[in-house]
Amino acid sequence: MKKLNSAQLRAAYLEYFKSRGHAVINTASLIPENDPTVLFTTAGMHPLVPYLLGQKHPASTRLTDVQICARTGDIDEVGDASHCTFFEMLGNWSLGDYFKKESISWSFGFLTEALGIDVKRIAVSVFAGDENCKRDDESAKIWKSLGIPSSAIFFLPKENNWWGLAGQGPCGPDTEIFIDTGKKKCGPDCSPACNCGKYLEIWNNVFMQYFKDANGKLTPLEKPNVDTGMGLERTVCILNGFKSVYETDLFADAVHKIEELCNRRADADALTQRSVRIVADHIRTAVFMLGDVKGVTPSNVYQGYVLRRLLRRAIRFGRFIDLPNGALQTVAAIYIEKYKDVYPFIAENAEKIISELVKEEEKFAKTLVQGVKEFEKLVKYIPDKKINGKSAFRLYDTYGFPLEMTVEMAEEVGFSVDTVGFAAALEEHQNKSRVGAEQAFKGGLADSSETTANLHSATHMLHEALRRVLGGEIKQRGSNITAERSRFDFEFGRPLTPEEIQTVENLVNGEIKKALPVICAETSVDEAKSSGAIGVFDNKYDERVKVYTVGFSKEICGGPHAANTGDLGTFSIQKEQSSSAGVRRIYSVLK
Ligand code: ALA
Repeated sequence: MKKLNSAQLRAAYLEYFKSRGHAVINTASLIPENDPTVLFTTAGMHPLVPYLLGQKHPASTRLTDVQICARTGDIDEVGDASHCTFFEMLGNWSLGDYFKKESISWSFGFLTEALGIDVKRIAVSVFAGDENCKRDDESAKIWKSLGIPSSAIFFLPKENNWWGLAGQGPCGPDTEIFIDTGKKKCGPDCSPACNCGKYLEIWNNVFMQYFKDANGKLTPLEKPNVDTGMGLERTVCILNGFKSVYETDLFADAVHKIEELCNRRADADALTQRSVRIVADHIRTAVFMLGDVKGVTPSNVYQGYVLRRLLRRAIRFGRFIDLPNGALQTVAAIYIEKYKDVYPFIAENAEKIISELVKEEEKFAKTLVQGVKEFEKLVKYIPDKKINGKSAFRLYDTYGFPLEMTVEMAEEVGFSVDTVGFAAALEEHQNKSRVGAEQAFKGGLADSSETTANLHSATHMLHEALRRVLGGEIKQRGSNITAERSRFDFEFGRPLTPEEIQTVENLVNGEIKKALPVICAETSVDEAKSSGAIGVFDNKYDERVKVYTVGFSKEICGGPHAANTGDLGTFSIQKEQSSSAGVRRIYSVLK
């Protein structure tokens, strides 16, 4: 077996598939584009969905890459030898090009020839078949022809050998590749399907033959594809004979730093080992979430909430090993150094990564000790071992404990948490803060007069027109509307040209001429987002929100607005100027 490190394995993989006609493409962002069903990119195929559904890829019908991925579904398993919340997935794809024979043969060739893994250590699983799709004897036959004995080929059902994204999208049966770690079988039925640790999954080859719609209905794809994914961390671990991924070069320096900071060995005892691993894993994931090209910051919604949960969990487990305050940034700095050449955006965003970590740690360190005391009081005085929703909400609201953290802490002492009661308490709070937010917004308008409401509607359309002319990534920074004029601030790096200003004005006036009724709908935040509404209340934890459709603009907002775009008269931009570094300001009026 070749003892490759992470850089060598990435290079060997890409080279192997490049020499078999694959175009090498770059990793996409950790935040998926236009996908309301998931928060993070969970697999290499994620950014390729349009091409797997038949759109032509500009580079080739054969692709290969290393994709950064985040998955938090297995977060409870982190601390074992192989589960990570962030990982790199080596992948190769056929877009209606080759199929099972080439895919399986190349996977086998890469493992045995390029990496020198002994055939005897390879086990595979194939799809056992169901009412929709027949048993995959074809793949089994290919594996046999390559020298994998029947005893190492396992036919498993859909829950093991079928792959697709959580929502709609391409999917199909798969064949998974495992390394036999040499551990004893856990029983006569021991197979790759059990979690006893004998078999470690390293690669998955999906034969994407179907499109699954939102109702779960399968339709055959015109051209079937192949989607594969190999875990970088796990494969480096196997190649080097390590006991866990934390011994690989990807983690080793960070683990040593944690050991040094808390002055103990990572393997001192089971709790220490788990805590060190959780800290090492979660900080690495946080570095990538913060440093991503579409970087996230800790918050109470969406990706920001997941990031906050990870960081607060790392801080709590850090306490078990006496990790000193300020350690997060020290460990993060090791990862920035480790990954800066492979992922230059990590180096470019180093300052932001560190400053956000420091901020979040300072914020939570203040309340953690108090919150733990509060929690201990609770468990001391509750006889039925069930923490009610109000108490869990208090821990969340006053001490910053994500619900998942309270649940985990409760489980550690044999308690449960009324999560339904928590949701109710949260909703009650949100309703209060929504009213507050709407009032605050209305307060931002100088009054609720008709002229102010009309200018408010015009400002929504101005925002959309700017997005269309300058790009969807411009971000609103503020607005202030009086009966005389609207002031709108947004992030953008340079002055607008006279032509751009004219186009923006024309776009808005075009919508006014159409005399469209202004529509207000009340929906959940998720529905609002997936309908394409822009959210200016991104940082609020509102459950139900109002979405205003004003001409071509769709925005989450508290109102008030005009009844019809035809009421607005003529829109005119009076001034475009700088507001602060990277922020432009537009004054506009209705005539
Ligand atoms: N998309 C497949 C997986 O994530 C390869 O397992």
